[in-house]
Formats: sequence, structure tokens, C-alpha cells
Amino acid sequence: MSTEPFRNVCLLPQTNQLLGLYTIIRDRSTARPDFIFYSDRIIRLLVEEGLNHLPVMDRPVETHTNETFKGVGFKGKICGVSIVRAGESMEQGLRDCCRSVRIGKILIQRDEETALPKLFYEKLPEDIADRYVFLLDPMLATGGSAIMATDVLIKRGVKPERIFFLNLICSKEGIDNYHKAFPDVKIVTGAIDRGLNEDKYLVPGLGDFGDRYYCI
Ligand code: PRP
Ligand code: URA
Ligand code: MG
Repeated sequence: MSTEPFRNVCLLPQTNQLLGLYTIIRDRSTARPDFIFYSDRIIRLLVEEGLNHLPVMDRPVETHTNETFKGVGFKGKICGVSIVRAGESMEQGLRDCCRSVRIGKILIQRDEETALPKLFYEKLPEDIADRYVFLLDPMLATGGSAIMATDVLIKRGVKPERIFFLNLICSKEGIDNYHKAFPDVKIVTGAIDRGLNEDKYLVPGLGDFGDRYYCI
């Protein structure tokens, strides 16, 4: 699927494998253990893709054949920031790829009546302004929560081009709203849905991600 006309959106290749994973998590009859297992598999793919976008520098190494391999290594330090609660589901996938990665938290909840986000809490690594940041939240619906979280990061000195927003499903209007505020943040996603229903849930979507991953 082409991501045109979206600039700065990286959509995972829509392979049959990926569509199969999304089919399971979107299916309303999928029970929590499978929802967690298959969401985790998608999260791992998103983290791996996010890592592909980080800059590298030359790092030549000597091999056991006494040859030099002209390798590369990541240029900067990274950290994760999850939007609590649902975003916490993505932390383990990041830890599985980046040993002892630092993780900050921002607690933002949508008001159930108005769907407007409210900021309750933030706890971020001291040196976050010097890091590349993987912002973690599985759902981008109106974009309000992600905009509020990114605002917090920018106020702490993180450069927008150093933020990578990883999510499982986004809406077209969520992308538009988010990029109107932060055109230089790259969104890495696995699915772009048609839109939102009257309750501001993604359609076709999968329902409430946090509830399905943690509660029901
Ligand atoms: C969900 C989701 C995002 C937000 C997306 O969280 O995890 O944070 O809604 O919606 P938006 O783009 O319209 O802001 P929610 O506030 O439901 O809390 P939860 O993580 O506890 O489920
Ligand atoms: N939050 C969710 O968990 N799902 C949606 O569809 C929208 C916001
Ligand atoms: Mg949330």
C-alpha cells in the first residue's frame, strides 16, 4: 500500500504475514492471550523498522580471518517513551531489541465523553534531549494524545527529527492532525485505517487496545 500523500510516514510492507497478524488482533473473537501474542509480534516488527531509520557511522572491525569488515554502528543514544497505559505494551518489544534501553513514561488518558486527552504525569530520562526517542502508543486516532505527548518531549528539548512515533494502527485524520503539529516526526506504523466512528474509535480498528491487551 502506498503511503501517498503522507509525507514522513513509514508503513510496514503489507505482506500476507503482516495482514495475517492484523487479522487475528482485529478479530473480535480473539481472546487476550492470542491478542497479546500477535500484537507483540507486530510490535517487534515496528521496533525493528524504527531502528532501520536511525543514523549510523562507520565502524570497521577485524574478523577471525584477519580481514577488516567495513561495518557500521548507531551514531547516537536512544530511549523509549510510552504513553501510558496502552503504550506500555510496546516497551518489552523495544527492550528485546535494545538491551537495557532507558524508558520514560507519559500518562495521558482520553476523556471517555469528549475523547480529548488529559496529561496526568511525565517521568523522562534526564538526558532525553541528547537522545533519539521512540514514542510508543499502539493507537493514533484523533492524534490528540500523541500531539500532547510530543509537546512534552519538545519542551524537554528533544528535536522533532529525532522522534520516531511507533504505532500499530493510525487513521488518516490522525496522521494529518499530528503532522500539522509536528511535520518532522516520522510515524512508523503497520496500518492506516479508513477513519473514526462517532466515539472517535478507529474503524475498522480493533476496539480499545489497552482493554484488550490488559483487561478483557
Ligand atoms: C488510547 C490510545 C492512545 C489514544 C489515541 O488511549 O492508546 O493513547 O487513545 O486516541 P487519540 O489519537 O484520539 O488521542 P486511552 O486514552 O484510551 O488510554 P489507555 O491507554 O488507558 O487505553
Ligand atoms: N484508543 C483505542 O484503544 N482504540 C481506538 O480505536 C482509539 C483510541
Ligand atoms: Mg492512552
